[in-house]
Amino acid sequence: MNIDEFRKHAYQTVDWICEYFENIEKYPVRSSVKPKDVYNQLSLTVPAKGESFDEILNDFKSTIIPGMTHWQHPRFFAYFPSNNSFPSILADMIINSMSAQCMSWATSPAATELEEKMMEWLREAIGLPKQFKGVIQDTASTATLCALLTAREKVSNYEVNKSGFNKNQRYRIYCSSEAHSSIEKAIKIAGFGSNNLVKIDVDSQFSMDSKRLNEAIEKDLSDGYTPLAIVAALGTTGSVAFDPLHEIAKISEQYGIWLHVDAAYAGTALICEEERWMLKGISAVDSFVFNPHKWMMISFDCSAYFIKDEESLIRTFEILPEYLKTNEAERVNNYRDWGIQLGRRFRALKLWFTFRSFGIDKMKEIIRNHILLAKNLETKISKLPYIEILAPNKLNVLCFRFKPITMSDELEMEKLNQSIMEEINDSGFAYFSHTKLNGKYTIRFVIGQSNVKEEHVLETWEKLEEIYNRKVNT
Ligand SMILES: Cc1ncc(COP(=O)(O)O)c(C=O)c1O
Repeated sequence: MNIDEFRKHAYQTVDWICEYFENIEKYPVRSSVKPKDVYNQLSLTVPAKGESFDEILNDFKSTIIPGMTHWQHPRFFAYFPSNNSFPSILADMIINSMSAQCMSWATSPAATELEEKMMEWLREAIGLPKQFKGVIQDTASTATLCALLTAREKVSNYEVNKSGFNKNQRYRIYCSSEAHSSIEKAIKIAGFGSNNLVKIDVDSQFSMDSKRLNEAIEKDLSDGYTPLAIVAALGTTGSVAFDPLHEIAKISEQYGIWLHVDAAYAGTALICEEERWMLKGISAVDSFVFNPHKWMMISFDCSAYFIKDEESLIRTFEILPEYLKTNEAERVNNYRDWGIQLGRRFRALKLWFTFRSFGIDKMKEIIRNHILLAKNLETKISKLPYIEILAPNKLNVLCFRFKPITMSDELEMEKLNQSIMEEINDSGFAYFSHTKLNGKYTIRFVIGQSNVKEEHVLETWEKLEEIYNRKVNT
C-alpha cells in the first residue's frame, strides 16, 4: 500500500467507522457466534501474495464483525463499560500512526511530559492529594501488581528483589471477599502465595468489615506473619460496594501497612465533587488506581496509577543496562522505570485530546446523567413486588433479581433469572452480565455506556419485564 492508496483507504475506513456509530443500534449488542465459527472461516496460512484493501475490509465486515460484541452500543449494560469517544479515537489514530515507543524521556520527550501533565490533570480532576505522582499503566491488574511489588520491596528493604524470599519473610495481604480477582493474581505473580491473601468478610452492604480486618491483622502478628498491604476497593466488581476507607486508613496507619486502593471503575465518578465521600481517609493511602478506559471515555487501554512515594516504585523497577543510559536521566522521568514493561505506548495523547475536546464540565454532566438514570430506574423498580434489590446502589449499577411472590425455591429463582438474562442477551437487544451476592443469582444493570439515554434504559426494562411476565405466566 503506497501513500496515495493509504489516504484513500484511510478515508474509506473512517467512513466505515462513522457508519458504524451511526448504525450502532442496529447491531446485536452481544455477538451470537458459536465457538470456532470465526476461526473456521479464516485462511489456513498467511497469504503468499498481498490482497486488495477492499477485499480485506469486506472480509472484516462479513467474518469479523459478526463475532464482535458492541461495547459502544447504548444498550450495553454488562460488566463495566469500555467507553471510548471521538477525540480519543482520533488520538489513537495518531498514536498508532506514529507508533512511538515511549520508554524513556529521550525516546519521545513530548510523550513523557504530556503524561506528567495528564496525570496532574487527572489527579486534580478526581480530587486526589497533591503528594500523589501518576503514571499510565495498561490495566488496573498491572497497577495493583506494581503496588504489591513496591510494598514488598519497601518492607523487605529491597531484599526480595535481590535474594528472593527468605523463610522469615512471611507476608500477608488483605482485601475483602468481594475484591477483584486481579488482586489474587498479583499475589501469585509477586510470589507471596495465594494462601497469604487474607480475604476479609464483608458486611450487609458488601463492604469490608474493618473490625474483622483488625482481628485478622492481630492474629497474623501473633502467629509471626508480617502484614504487608491492604487493598481497599472503592467500587467492587460485583455490586460496586465501597470499603470503609477512613476506617481501613486508621488501621493501616496504626500498623504501618501499605494501603492500596482499587477504584478501577468507580474512580471516574470522583470528577463529580459530590461523589468524593468515598475518598474519606485518602491521606493514609499509599497507592491508588482507576481506569479512565472504563467510564471516562478514553479508549482501551489506559489505567491511571498514582503513588505517593514514587522513589520506592522506581527503586523496585529500575534497571539500567548500558544501552538504556541517556544524558539527561537525572533531570527527567523515564517511565520505563515506573512499571513492568520496558516499551510503552503514547497513551497520554488520548487523555489530552479527550479532556480538551469535552472539557471537564461536560464530562461531569455525562457521569451525573448516568447516575441519575440509575437512580430513576431504581426508584421505579424497587417498588415492584416481584423485584428484589440485592445490593445498595451508590452510583449507577443496579443489582437485582426477579422474585415471583409465589416462588421461594432458590434454585428455581436462579434458573428463572438466568433464563431471562440469556433470552435478552441472545436476542441482541441488550446485554447484561450477572454475579452472585450472598449466593443469590444477581442481574447487574450497569448504566454507564457513554451513548446511553433514558429511552434505552426504559425500553430495556420493558423488554425484561415482558420476558419475565411471559416466563412466569406460561
Ligand atoms: C474493581 C476492579 N478492579 C480491577 C479490575 C481489573 O481491571 P483491568 O482489566 O484494567 O485489569 C476490574 C475489572 O473490571 C475491576 O472491576
